[in-house]
Amino acid sequence: MPKLAINGGSKVIDRQIGKDWPIFDDTERDALLEVLESGRWWRGSGPSEESKVTQFEEAFAAYQDARYGVAVTNGTQAIECALKALDIQPGDEVIVPAATFVATATACILVNAIPIVVDIDPRNYQIDPAAVEAAITDRTVGIIPVHYGGYPCDMEALQSVAESHGLWIIEDSAHAHGSQWNGRGCGSIGDIGTFSLQMGKTLTCGEGGICLTNDEELAKGLFSYHHIGRFEGRPFYEHHIVASNLRMTEWQAAVALGGLSRLEEQANTREENATYFARGLEQIEGVSPLWRADWVTRWNFYFYHFKFHSEQFGGISKQQFIEALGAEGLPAGSGHLHPIQKNPLFTERNWGPACFGDNEPPDYAKIETPECQRILDTEGIVLAHKLFLGDKSDMDLMLEAIEKVRANVDELR
Ligand SMILES: Cc1ncc(COP(=O)(O)O)c(C=O)c1O
Repeated sequence: MPKLAINGGSKVIDRQIGKDWPIFDDTERDALLEVLESGRWWRGSGPSEESKVTQFEEAFAAYQDARYGVAVTNGTQAIECALKALDIQPGDEVIVPAATFVATATACILVNAIPIVVDIDPRNYQIDPAAVEAAITDRTVGIIPVHYGGYPCDMEALQSVAESHGLWIIEDSAHAHGSQWNGRGCGSIGDIGTFSLQMGKTLTCGEGGICLTNDEELAKGLFSYHHIGRFEGRPFYEHHIVASNLRMTEWQAAVALGGLSRLEEQANTREENATYFARGLEQIEGVSPLWRADWVTRWNFYFYHFKFHSEQFGGISKQQFIEALGAEGLPAGSGHLHPIQKNPLFTERNWGPACFGDNEPPDYAKIETPECQRILDTEGIVLAHKLFLGDKSDMDLMLEAIEKVRANVDELR
């Protein structure tokens, strides 16, 4: 009789693990009605106390330890807005990690800059500062580290590289709401931090984004680039720079404020459960948690990554492992499909009439990032953050599913 559920055995998990996502209650219902009935559906010409967008900007910036926040339409345009505020020029080179969502790099191309893709550190799956340093040329202007999965990057090493070469840093914090590096909120450490509030993120209003900074001049630039080139305090129909409309609506801010009121508690629950889960993983042959660096003072993960070691796991593939876990009732994922530069848009150079001045993007098809490739192909397993919003009995069931697959791995060969 087969034991594994994938072969017809009974499954380990036959109840809900964690929580459904998104989470909302009367806080959001009331706030949305309040916006509706107020007749104030957009922020207006600038920040004001009555505006939910302003309230969200101030509350989220403070939560992440930044002085200023500019709420925008989504996380991709948050990066574009940040690049514009940093005065990006055609052909400027910007260093990005291979392990990220493609928007980290496409946002660069959308403003005629060239993303230079580098490999990640296999210990924690974050951008490798040594690879960043090796990729710097006389055209490099900045680095966009991504706190991948919400795990804070090695900001000390990155800041030291940036300072010694005169580069700026945009922290792509799309996955890192509530995460902290050495006690400081992600997104408040570099020159600008950008966030996505898209549906799956640990703080969401369906679609949305925000840029954070501690620099008053950059805050003014972000405001202007998200607001059709207006300057704060100047007449409404006076426009100073060519810029788009990236404004967040009052509806989005109403929902984001509701989520923000729960973020601290959810972050603590995820941390507590993940710490317990990581201890359990260490007891199972063939899997292991990511190395947790001392600088990670809080990991409010978007994806929980752990490592699968095929050679210690009966030689089965990562895909077989994921399918067997799924059958046991544990939905695990593989992560992003490719290192970003292997997406057709890069390998086929499908960026249309982008103008890179006197510079040209590299032949991305030839750029190899072996650690990222190996991790995506064979090692990295992803669990969604919502699985960690329950209690320890959920963690025990998740561990039991992994243990069961390990104990019966012969059935998969
Ligand atoms: C790392 C990263 N950066 C940027 C973005 C873009 O955010 P959005 O989907 O809100 O445009 C995402 C979205 O998932 C992301 O994962």
